[in-house]
Amino acid sequence: MDDARKFFDGVTEETLDPLDWGDVQAVSHRIIDDAVDYLRDVRDRPVWREMPDNVREVFTASLPRSPSSLAAVYGEVSRTVMSYPMGNIHPRFWAWYMGSSNFTGALGDFLAAIQGSNLGGGNHAAGLMDSQVVNWCKEMLGFPASASGTLVSGGSMANIIGLTVARNTKAGIDVREHGVAAIEKPLRFYGSDQIHSCHRKAMEALGLGNRALRRIPTDAGLRIDIAALRAAIAEDRAAGFRPACVIGNAGTVNTGAIDDLQALAKLAHEEDLWFHVDGCIGALIAIAPRNKHRVAGIEWADSVALDPHKWLHAPFEVGCALVRDAVAHRKTFAVTPEYLESTPRGLASGEWLNDYGLQTSRGFRALKVWMALKQHGVDKFGRLIDQNIAQAGYLSELIEAEPLLELAASPTINIVCFRYQPGLAGGALKALNTEIMLRLQEQGIATLSDTTLHGEHWLRVAINNHRTRRTDLELMVREATRLGRKIAAEGSRPEQSIPEQPIDAIDLVR
Ligand SMILES: Cc1ncc(COP(=O)(O)O)c(C=O)c1O
Repeated sequence: MDDARKFFDGVTEETLDPLDWGDVQAVSHRIIDDAVDYLRDVRDRPVWREMPDNVREVFTASLPRSPSSLAAVYGEVSRTVMSYPMGNIHPRFWAWYMGSSNFTGALGDFLAAIQGSNLGGGNHAAGLMDSQVVNWCKEMLGFPASASGTLVSGGSMANIIGLTVARNTKAGIDVREHGVAAIEKPLRFYGSDQIHSCHRKAMEALGLGNRALRRIPTDAGLRIDIAALRAAIAEDRAAGFRPACVIGNAGTVNTGAIDDLQALAKLAHEEDLWFHVDGCIGALIAIAPRNKHRVAGIEWADSVALDPHKWLHAPFEVGCALVRDAVAHRKTFAVTPEYLESTPRGLASGEWLNDYGLQTSRGFRALKVWMALKQHGVDKFGRLIDQNIAQAGYLSELIEAEPLLELAASPTINIVCFRYQPGLAGGALKALNTEIMLRLQEQGIATLSDTTLHGEHWLRVAINNHRTRRTDLELMVREATRLGRKIAAEGSRPEQSIPEQPIDAIDLVR
């Protein structure tokens, strides 16, 4: 019989709680001890490693019917999930774009789950904290206190929130009631050709379609060409479209380019457009003393998407949408069904936070952000952003000093694109660099990603990592060059080469 089953007057009643909390406490202490060791020693492990078949097989097992002890369940998690992570908490993880998490934030996630509140709304402490974290986000970006906002799963959702308010405000009809088909003139949104793919998904989900988002060409620094934008707006007006919204990038995903946000704000004002900023990468530069000038103008936006799970290093997931006009924000999403009516006192007297987005139930995302900000203070996060940007500058110097490496361009912020260049071009150059990237991963040395800029393939290093040291970057440059030489020497068909065995990560720690 399962230990949580009790008999009362012949009726069996069950709960998920254990009969013996002492056992749970012992296992929980072990989990916490292991977690501390796990983070403390992260540098000593490979960044990433391929899973063996016996680990993959665990995830093909069928639905468990019989119980296991918590210790056994944890043992399985430890051998599989904990042993084969994505690697983004490692000091040498620089792929795509994500934060590197932090222990306090992880405790916040744990406590949020233990405390269990649903942040759909209500009169309770977690609800007030959720609103407080939104207020802190406004303060960090210089947004007015009267603005509204909401914590969401990440940047993609934060962008959708802002763009939905933009669509509804600029549609000229009541979109909620009549739908997009009733919009008189087709709406047009604008962003640079470097805009993140989540905006395409947003346009599709909003019923406007991908073509309603005009990609405007960029200048040599991959920033939106303002003159081309003006011309596109004029052309669209003349053709019977309704220009509705311009999306500025505060940090593009490819290179970290920051559009001229002040110029965009001015243009949006003159053209009567909604000004949304995708600040998932760079909005928080506003708190970095040495670099905040780069995002000047963000405080003039009508809406901003930012991502605490990037440069605040909150554990996934947490994004934030801010909207200057709180009334427009509420008007876009608020619905009060009969079962969620407020009461003058008691639990239902608190604000319904789900009136600011699409979710009804909401997780307690605020706690992990709140605890880390309280512990470290916002200034430290600002300094860490400056540190990553300085590290990107250092990496570009290392690359320029190595004759076999080529730098795509001086980094604007924390993203560096480069490649190994032994005098190849086209597909051969791409194959060689892809192989370098894969071997860096497979040997547990470092995780980079790649991208295409102006039609050319580059390796991409996004340093959004509070654990990275300059020595980590030196190591990566050394190893990328070593691998480049080795692969080139192996012959002209690198894709057929046999991957080397992973290097003991401890050898890599300098
Ligand atoms: C510029 C930009 N916008 C939006 C997103 C999407 O954010 P998320 O992955 O948090 O949904 C990203 C992700 O890296 C990004 O770099």
